[in-house]
Amino acid sequence: MKLRHLQQLRRTVSRIRAFISDTSRNTQLSLGGNIRSSSTQASIQSLSFEPLPREDLVPRVMSRLKGRPFMQGSQGEGCPEYLAEPKESLPHGVLVHNPNQASLEELTIKCMEYVEDNITSTPAILFRNLPVQTAQDFSTIAKAIPWKGLEYKGAPNFRNKADKEAGTYTANDDPCHFSIAPHNELSYTNAYPSKIMFFCVQEPGDGCGGETPLLRNSELLSKLDPEVVRKFEEKQVRYVRYFPDKKNKEYLNWQHVYQTDDRRAVESQARAQGSNITWDPSGDLYVWQNRPACIYHPKTGIKTWFNQIVNGNASYYRMLPVLAEVPDNQLPTDTCYGDGSPIEPAVLQHVAACKWSCAVGFKWKKGDLLVLDNLAVMHGRVGFKGDRQILVYMTE
Ligand SMILES: [Fe+2]
Repeated sequence: MKLRHLQQLRRTVSRIRAFISDTSRNTQLSLGGNIRSSSTQASIQSLSFEPLPREDLVPRVMSRLKGRPFMQGSQGEGCPEYLAEPKESLPHGVLVHNPNQASLEELTIKCMEYVEDNITSTPAILFRNLPVQTAQDFSTIAKAIPWKGLEYKGAPNFRNKADKEAGTYTANDDPCHFSIAPHNELSYTNAYPSKIMFFCVQEPGDGCGGETPLLRNSELLSKLDPEVVRKFEEKQVRYVRYFPDKKNKEYLNWQHVYQTDDRRAVESQARAQGSNITWDPSGDLYVWQNRPACIYHPKTGIKTWFNQIVNGNASYYRMLPVLAEVPDNQLPTDTCYGDGSPIEPAVLQHVAACKWSCAVGFKWKKGDLLVLDNLAVMHGRVGFKGDRQILVYMTE
C-alpha cells in the first residue's frame, strides 16, 4: 500500500514538473524569448563565487629570474633570484560554482558584474572552474562581455588575431624563450584599454616558465628612485616606432601592425592614438609621440607609474636574433626622454629590476579567465619551453 502511494506521488510530481516546464516554454515562446525561463533563472540564482584557496595558485616550481637569458634586467643589479609567489590578493582567485549549468553567456555577465563590484579593491581577478576549454569558448566570453572591445592597432609586438569577429588575440608571438617585463597594455599611446582579459587555452608545464607576472603599479612607484621618477615626470617619455613596408621587410610591417594596406587608414589610426607619423621615401613608416611617465587612476585617484620605458626600449629588440644586425633607427621601437636624450642604461636596469622585484607569479590552469584593471596592475611573461597558449581581449 505504502509503495503504491509512493509511486502515485512520484507520477503526480512528474506531471506537475512537466506542466510547469511546458508552461514556462510556451510562455517564453509566446513572448518571443524575451524573458528567461524559470529553469534559466534558477540556474543563475544557484551560481556562486567562492574564494579560491591561495595554495591552488602557487606554482610548484618558481621560475628563476636572475641571470635568465633573453630577459631585460636579469643580468644586472637588483634582479631577484626567483619570481615571488602570489600575495595580497594578487591575483584574487574566484572559484565559480555553476551547479545548474547556466550558459557561458550568462556566466560571463555574472562574472563581469563581480568584476565591476570588486576590481577597484582587487585589480587582478582570476576566475577558475568556468565550463570552458577552447579558444572558441573565449570567443563566446568576449562576445558576451558588456563593455566595448578595443583593437590592437600600431602595437610593436608580433601577435595575431585569434578570432576576428570576437576581437580576441594571441597574447604575444615573440619567441617563447623571451621574457617580457611587466607593463600596462598600450600605455605608450593615449588609447589604452581600461581592462585586459587573459584566457588560458594551454597551461605551461610545471618548471617550464610561462608565468604571467603581475604587479601593482602603486607598489612599483613606491620602490622607484624618486629622482628617476622626477626626471621622467619633467621630461616625459618619447616612444619611437618603426614599421617597414611589407615589400621591404616582413617583420612587423605596417600592413600587418595596422591590419590595412591603406596609408590614410594608418594615418587616421595613428593620429587617434595621439601619434605623429612620417613616411620614409622607401614606404617605411615612423610613428612617435611623447607621453607622461605617470598618470592618476581615474577611479582611485592613485598616482601610477604608467609607461613602457623598459619594454619599448631598443634593448628588448636587440635580444631578438632576427634583429641583431639591424640599425638603431630600424628597430621596431625605442624609448628615450621626451627631449630626445637617451635613457641611461643604469636607469633602465633600475626600473626593470624594481618591476621584477614587485612581481608575483601564479599557476595557470586551462580555462582560467584573468581580468586586470590595466591602470592598476602590470602584466608580463616569463619565457617558457614546451606548450603554452594564452589569449587576450581588451575593453575600452
Ligand atoms: Fe601586454
